[in-house]
Amino acid sequence: YLQLTLAILKPHVVKSPFALQKIRDLIIDNNFKVVRSRRTTISREEAELFYKEHRDRFFYNRLVSFMCSGPSDIHILAAHDAIVKWRQLMGPTKVYQAQYSAPDTIRGMFGLSDTRNATHGSDSTESAKREIAIFFKDFDLKKWHDNE
Ligand code: CMP
Repeated sequence: YLQLTLAILKPHVVKSPFALQKIRDLIIDNNFKVVRSRRTTISREEAELFYKEHRDRFFYNRLVSFMCSGPSDIHILAAHDAIVKWRQLMGPTKVYQAQYSAPDTIRGMFGLSDTRNATHGSDSTESAKREIAIFFKDFDLKKWHDNE
């Protein structure tokens, strides 16, 4: 059974051809199937909905502004244990932890700060479902699982 996760390659990655290519290679080399992809500049409304659980955090405004600052590449990825597998590839959220103890992860290589941490990945099947519905409105999750 192939699990789905939502991956976002954040604006600073999309602006950097080397980082973008390297992350795409990692996605393919780690046997993720790319189920859907779109490049879009996330709107403020979408970012606020997407990150609503963080709305009281000190970094919320900078996070929302950054995510709307330019195009992101948004992918639905499928793999066995896709959620955990993608999060392992990404590495720790905090950039100092990523660079210090996981330098070969995506965030270790391309994270610039705790906000500009290169990529996003869903943290649970419930989040994946919610996040996919925000950015791929016509994606029929039930149909996808039924067809497996
Ligand atoms: P992401 O996986 O997209 O989900 C929540 C985001 O909040 C996270 O990546 C970071 O971009 C951001 N974030 C989390 N913790 C911090 C922090 N301590 N300071 C700034 N931004 C943060």
